[in-house]
Amino acid sequence: MTDETYNEDELYNEDAEDDAEAAVEPKAPLWRRLLFGAFVTLAVLFFAGVMLYEFGGMSAPDPQLKAQYEQMVAAGYAQPIQARFTIPIPGCKCHSSDPVLTMAHSTRRISECGSCHAR
Ligand code: HEC
Repeated sequence: MTDETYNEDELYNEDAEDDAEAAVEPKAPLWRRLLFGAFVTLAVLFFAGVMLYEFGGMSAPDPQLKAQYEQMVAAGYAQPIQARFTIPIPGCKCHSSDPVLTMAHSTRRISECGSCHAR
């Protein structure tokens, strides 16, 4: 670096420094940033929990059961199920071997189990 490009006055211009300090908020102390991080984490987890409770349901039924059910609907033995928005929860599956019961349950949400089943 030569004196032509390096101008100490410009680099350490006090006015510019004051402006920069005013523009950037002073950093909050560590404990406050940690507390804020913990709060955001809890809020996100709480939101995810509420969404899963309200809209979560079982994972997709066994394709074989589904095919059986579709045959039953085609033959007029069962009502077609109304598609509904559910968030499939991995590992939460219907263990019934009854195609109608399984397909009917596939659109039910966790918040609704208690309206038919005693808890
Ligand atoms: C609209 C009412 C209704 C809702 C909502 C409902 N069920 Fe059911 N459920 C039934 C009926 C009816 C049966 C069949 C009768 C029985 O076995 O008691 C049944 C049976 C079951 C069975 C036994 C299956 C078997 O093989 O016998 C399980 C387990 C079950 N439900 C879980 C759930 C879960 C988990 C939810 C929430 C996602 C839920 N149910 C929501 C009505 C409902």
